[in-house]
Amino acid sequence: MKNILVTGCAGFIGSNFVPYFLEKYQEYTIVNLDLLTYAGNLENLQELEKHPRYKFIQGNICNRELVEFIFTEYNISGVIHFAAESHVDNSIKNPGIFIETNVNGTFTLIDVAYKFWMEKPFKYRDRYLNGMMNEKEDHSKLEKATLPRFHHISTDEVYGTLGDTGFFTEKTPYAPNSPYSASKASSDMIVRSYQETYGLNSVITNCSNNYGPKQHHEKLIPTIIRNALSGNSIPIYGDGKNIRDWLYVLDHCKGIDLVYHTGKNSEVYNIGGRNERTNLQIVDRICTILDEKIPKDKSYKELITFVEDRAGHDRRYAIDATKIENKLGWKADEDFDSGIVKTIEYYLKKYIK
Ligand SMILES: NC(=O)c1ccc[n+]([C@@H]2O[C@H](COP(=O)([O-])OP(=O)(O)OC[C@H]3O[C@@H](n4cnc5c(N)ncnc54)[C@H](O)[C@@H]3O)[C@@H](O)[C@H]2O)c1
Repeated sequence: MKNILVTGCAGFIGSNFVPYFLEKYQEYTIVNLDLLTYAGNLENLQELEKHPRYKFIQGNICNRELVEFIFTEYNISGVIHFAAESHVDNSIKNPGIFIETNVNGTFTLIDVAYKFWMEKPFKYRDRYLNGMMNEKEDHSKLEKATLPRFHHISTDEVYGTLGDTGFFTEKTPYAPNSPYSASKASSDMIVRSYQETYGLNSVITNCSNNYGPKQHHEKLIPTIIRNALSGNSIPIYGDGKNIRDWLYVLDHCKGIDLVYHTGKNSEVYNIGGRNERTNLQIVDRICTILDEKIPKDKSYKELITFVEDRAGHDRRYAIDATKIENKLGWKADEDFDSGIVKTIEYYLKKYIK
């Protein structure tokens, strides 16, 4: 039995990840550390309430004492770190909490992981490393693959914005433009420094925009569906031509699973769906499907309203997922047309009681 700490599972991606992971692997127990900010919702995990291999702890990833307690109490042998402030608009209004959670929180987690796994006097280190390292050897001589792993979940937004052509690869220089993406870029760098300096076994995945069930209602796709159903205007920033590369959330979860188990130590993997769409195309597609499923007198498209653009709004994101596809054999199962139908069906059940 392996106990792993998965942070932020009451949010969108984590709450899709945990049921998938627990069902696939019988040998894991997941300890979910989540503060339950406005973005966390335990209803997302209702199905797991009585699951024997799932434990929920409400608390802050910045709380070092609590994180140390969890590592000790549960003998944590791996971390998958989702918890973050994740909404770009909020980061423009209130950047401080993004630095606190995304930067300081990631530092706290990885520093405790490092101390617990690799430094004396933590008992776990001795159990793990006994026989692999004698007292005189330094950390660089460790076979990293034998160490517990820290998997940091990040975003393609760290790379900044693209023009009409080109893709983000793992070698694209970081150029974050919002406080959100800057805080995620900083957290990526902290993780990298623990790989390089201390030899901590870690991987980073940078993913494109996710969509699917259980997303917070403030995000684009739930907003479109909710407003359409209630007859309210559907707000679109600027000219609606900003492009994102959309990935169905379960495909992201499968990519994380693959990287966590088979990714190479210290490596970065980009995950993206090769599904570039402008915001306007997204709204148009959703309204077309709603027009077919729940027809009204007028098309839902008449509710589209252009609003003042977001400050520093990146124009285009697009991921080159060649590395994870070729090296680890990952491939998205859903294209946008299949994924968006599943997503709409989920929100119709949620919003129409
Ligand atoms: N949603 C996307 O499209 C997307 C794309 C790429 C990467 N990511 C990354 O994936 C991760 C998860 O994203 P999401 O969309 O599920 O986010 P989310 O906002 O839906 O969920 C975040 C979760 O973290 C918890 N949390 C926030 N601050 C915390 C703290 N201080 N301590 C403990 N828990 C805390 C919240 O309560 C919530 O449950 C984030 O790191 C995000 O940067 C998201």
